[in-house]
Amino acid sequence: MTERAQSDIAAESQGAILSGEQDLRGKTFFVKTFGCQMNVHDSERMSGLLAGSGALPVNDPAEADIILVNTCTIRDKADQKALSDLGRIRMVRKDGPENILAVTGCMAQREGEEIFRLVPDVDLILGPSQIRNLIPLIETVSSGKTRVNGTILPNPEMTTPPALRPGGATAFVTVQEGCDKACAYCVVPSTRGAERSRPVQDIVNEIEMLVRSGYSEVTLLGQNVNGYGKKGDAGGALFPDLLRKVEGISGLKRVRFTTSHPVDMSHELLEVMARGSKIMPHLHLPVQSGSDAVLSRMQRGYTVAQYREWVSLLRKVVPGFSLTTDLIVGFCGETEEEFTQTMEVVAEFQFEGAFSFIYSPRPSTPAFSWGTLPPREVSVERLERLQKLVESQSSRRNEAQMGQTVEILVEKWDPENRVAMGRTPQFQNVRGILPPSWGEPELGDLLKVNIEVASKSGLKGTCTGRA
Ligand code: 5AD
Ligand code: SF4
Repeated sequence: MTERAQSDIAAESQGAILSGEQDLRGKTFFVKTFGCQMNVHDSERMSGLLAGSGALPVNDPAEADIILVNTCTIRDKADQKALSDLGRIRMVRKDGPENILAVTGCMAQREGEEIFRLVPDVDLILGPSQIRNLIPLIETVSSGKTRVNGTILPNPEMTTPPALRPGGATAFVTVQEGCDKACAYCVVPSTRGAERSRPVQDIVNEIEMLVRSGYSEVTLLGQNVNGYGKKGDAGGALFPDLLRKVEGISGLKRVRFTTSHPVDMSHELLEVMARGSKIMPHLHLPVQSGSDAVLSRMQRGYTVAQYREWVSLLRKVVPGFSLTTDLIVGFCGETEEEFTQTMEVVAEFQFEGAFSFIYSPRPSTPAFSWGTLPPREVSVERLERLQKLVESQSSRRNEAQMGQTVEILVEKWDPENRVAMGRTPQFQNVRGILPPSWGEPELGDLLKVNIEVASKSGLKGTCTGRA
C-alpha cells in the first residue's frame, strides 16, 4: 500500500476502528475487481471499510483471511470471467472456517443464492447497493459460521463509505448511483437499483479531502451521471450546479465525469463545459446504434438526429471537444442495413474512441426472451468491421497529432526510463520523456509534451515545459 493510500484511510476513518464496527485487526484482505469504474470504486470503498476496521490489504489471495471477488454481469463473458477467477481463488485460499470468501457486485446481485450452488465454498454474497453493510455481514458470517445472503437487504439511499484508494493523482468520486432507464438489453437497473444522488456538500467535502491529501484530478461517477439530482434528491441541484461547485474547489486541477446519457443532456451542461477551465473537454456519450429502429427496440429514448444535434453543439461550443462512445452490434433483429447505419454514424461522428460489443442476452432484462438474434458468425463479422473502422479513425487522428504540443497531468512516473505518463484534456494516453537536466516530476504536475510517435495504444514524445 502506498503512503498516500494509508493517509487516505487515516483521513477518512480518523485512524480509528469505525465505531460499532467489527474489529478486524490482525486480519488480512484481498479484493479482485471486474467491470466498470463504478465497480472499481465500490472495491475502493469496501477496502476502506475493511481497513477502517483494522484489516490489512494484501496482494495475494493465498495470504488473505478475507477475500472479496467484486463481479460484473454486463455480458455473459463477464460472468464467465468471474466464475473462472473464483475457481482459481478457491484452489489457493487459506483453509479454515474463520476465513471468508465473499462474492460482491452485479453478478452476485443478479444470481443471488445461485452463487452458493455455483461456487459451494462462498460464505457471503452482497449486491452493489449494500456495500455499507459489508462489515456487519462479515460479523454475521464469522459468528454464525453460516452463509449469508446480503443481496436481499432493502436498498439504502446511497452508499458512500470511506474509500481506500490506491494513491496517485486522480481519484473516482461517486455522485450518483442506479438507473431508472429501461434499456432493453441492460442488466444494470436490476443490479444497481433506482437512481439516487448524493448531496452536493457531501461530494464537495470528499473532494476537498482528496485535494488535501494530494489528488489533482477527480472523475465524478454515476450510471447516468448527467442525470444527477433530476429526482430532486440533491436539494434541487442538478448536474451543471454540481460541476460549478466542484470546479470552485481550490487546488483541484481537473474534473472529469462518466457515464453520460444522451437523454439527460442539457444546454446548461454544455454552457458549463464550454467555459469551465477545470472541466475537461471530453464526453463519453454511448450512442449504442446508428439505426433509429434499433434504438427504438433498445428503448434508448432518443433518435440518431437528436444525438447528432448534441454532438454538433458540443463540437461548436466546447474548445478541443473529444467524444467517445459505446456501440452494440447484433441486437435483436439487427439487419445488415441497420448495422450499416451504425458504420455510417461512426464514420460521421469521428469518435475519439469507441467500446464495441456483441449483444449478450441477459436474464431479467426486457430483451432476454425476444430471440431474433443474427447468427453468431454474422455478429462476430460485424464487430470486426466496426472495430477496424474505429481503429483506422483513431490511428489517423493520432498521426495528425504528430508535431503538436499537448498538455498532460502526470499520473505515473517511470524513473528508470524518465517517462511521465498521463492524459491529455481529451483523455488520450501520452508518454512524455523528460530531458536529463530536469528534476523528477510530481504526480499531478501538468507538463507540455511534443508528440513524436503515434501508435494505436497512444502518443509519445518529449516534455518541453511545465504548464
Ligand atoms: N450486451 C452487450 N453489451 C452491453 N452493454 C450493456 N449491456 C449489454 C449487453 N447485454 C454495453 C453498452 C453499455 C456498455 C457499458 O456495455 O454499450 O454502454
Ligand atoms: Fe458496472 Fe454494469 Fe458491470 Fe455492474 S454490470 S459492474 S454496473 S458494467
